[in-house]
Amino acid sequence: MSQAKENAALAALDFVEDGMTLGLGSGSTAEIFIEKLGEKVAGGLKVQGVPTSSGTAACAKENGVPLIDVDRVSKIHLTIDGADEVDPLFTLIKGGGACLLREKIIANASDRMVVIADASKMVEQLGAFPLPVEIDPFGMALTADQIYQVLQDTGCKDGQTILRQNAEGTGPLITDGGHYIVDCKCGVIPNPGETAHFLEKIPGVMEHGLFVDLASVVIVGEEDHARVMELSRE
Ligand code: A5P
Repeated sequence: MSQAKENAALAALDFVEDGMTLGLGSGSTAEIFIEKLGEKVAGGLKVQGVPTSSGTAACAKENGVPLIDVDRVSKIHLTIDGADEVDPLFTLIKGGGACLLREKIIANASDRMVVIADASKMVEQLGAFPLPVEIDPFGMALTADQIYQVLQDTGCKDGQTILRQNAEGTGPLITDGGHYIVDCKCGVIPNPGETAHFLEKIPGVMEHGLFVDLASVVIVGEEDHARVMELSRE
């Protein structure tokens, strides 16, 4: 287990209060958080979690974190999730684990989103990590062409789209929602808000991995401590 990720996950526990409904993110850092949260639950903490993926649901069950069905929830106090890249305005690239649609639904419905990440995820400008875009399988080539065009038009260096394959190498990866993922080589994304806006206009795009104006706290894990950074979203 990476010590930096663990330090970030441990610091996130300070944001959790008794009685909260928590959005539980996906990925290795989020899973460390869920493990630590499970220890607190075993010690008497009362929370319920809304998982952002089937993997996260399994991890929560394994660690004794109670879950509530997303359709039975009217309020999510706090979501804790990882990220693939974080810029100085806390704009994120997410979706390396293919869970971006559910992650964004939950983050967007939460009062607060706390991102936990090791220091390697902090960047001056987004785009070195290929941008994941979740698309409907129907008409995927047409959709991929339109994504490429949007990325070109909004100043990304490249835009090449690559259909993500499943771990077995037997075909396209299918997300929890039954969609495909294209990973877009952007190089740089100079205007994430604009790119996000135009990607959202493409009918075959279910969701993209740019999280704009969602995170208000970023916890950066280092080898021997964690740095908590906050932005006001009032
Ligand atoms: C899952 O789809 C992603 O958004 C993850 O949050 C992201 O890939 C970070 O994962 P790690 O914590 O494993 O780096």
